[in-house]
Amino acid sequence: MYQYACSLVNSLSGVETSDQQFFSETFLEYMLLVFLVLFVSGAFFYSYITKKIMEPIRDLAASTEELTQGRFPEKLDVQQTRDELFILAQNFNRLSLQLKETEDARSKMVSDMAHEFRTPLSNINGYLEGLKKGVIPPDPSIFESLHQESARLTDMVNNLYQLSEWNMQSPVLKKETVPVDELLHNAASLFEWQMADKNMKLHLDIEPCQIQADAGSIRQMVSNLLQNAVEHRKNEDPVYLHGFRKGTVYVVEVQNTGAWIEPETKHRLFERFHREDSSRQRQTGGSGLGLAIVKELAEQHNGGAGIETDGWNHHFWFSFPL
Ligand SMILES: Nc1ncnc2c1ncn2[C@@H]1O[C@H](COP(=O)(O)OP(=O)(O)OP(=O)(O)O)[C@@H](O)[C@H]1O
Ligand SMILES: [Mg+2]
Repeated sequence: MYQYACSLVNSLSGVETSDQQFFSETFLEYMLLVFLVLFVSGAFFYSYITKKIMEPIRDLAASTEELTQGRFPEKLDVQQTRDELFILAQNFNRLSLQLKETEDARSKMVSDMAHEFRTPLSNINGYLEGLKKGVIPPDPSIFESLHQESARLTDMVNNLYQLSEWNMQSPVLKKETVPVDELLHNAASLFEWQMADKNMKLHLDIEPCQIQADAGSIRQMVSNLLQNAVEHRKNEDPVYLHGFRKGTVYVVEVQNTGAWIEPETKHRLFERFHREDSSRQRQTGGSGLGLAIVKELAEQHNGGAGIETDGWNHHFWFSFPL
């Protein structure tokens, strides 16, 4: 371009040679200046692009590497832009958080399981050792205790198996039109003897209704709630089983006066292994899975489960869409 401009000026007749030289020199200077400006701004642009694009990508690569090694990286700090990189980093942060939560839940579950299994197993071991050494006489009450502990272990394993199966794939539900009132009456009748034995009364107030649901699930859910009312009762106060329509749902509610439940943390009862006696010194009783199963089954029916309580008087409920 420079050569071309010079030859153009040279070819012009009537232009002095000194003027031509001056033009050539000035033109060359301007060209150099333009190249310099272009070079500096190019370098600036390059470093800006590298910083803006490459740095977050490098951070992302380092964090992914950490994740593959089983460590949980710090949250990626990306500027609030709406570009693909921001969305990618946001998704990565979400994925990493989810993996961490799953991992925390898994290790909590393992330690809870170890704790829950240890108590009945050490009871069984203690009894067997005593029997072997002849310290404990082999009378029927001992065998009854042994049987209770082994039955408790079996229940726990069955419940855990059921819940872990549902984790991997939703429970197989046979949804059909069922008379929910009949199912509730049947489930309640199974508790008659148990309650009479404990001087407890069960009052039923059930509105007839047909709903789309899996009959086995309803039976299991209401049994879990009634079993709780018997096991965690405070005195011999009656238990109420209500079934009623409420707007677009059918609600099943078991009401009883029971052991103290902290109203602030009541929703935690539906977590696996959560029991209200947080000291966890209890030697007998359930494993804290019954309500988790009720919640899981209710959600599988697009319904819900919950509790209302003032601390002593509890209303445990689950609902199904009508
Ligand atoms: N009707 C109730 N009255 C008082 N406390 C209750 C009642 N139902 C549940 N709870 C509290 O909620 C906890 C969790 O109940 P959940 O049914 O999940 O477990 P669990 O009864 O201890 O054991 P299981 O797995 O055998 O059912 C209980 O340990 C108890 O502290
Ligand atoms: Mg229970």
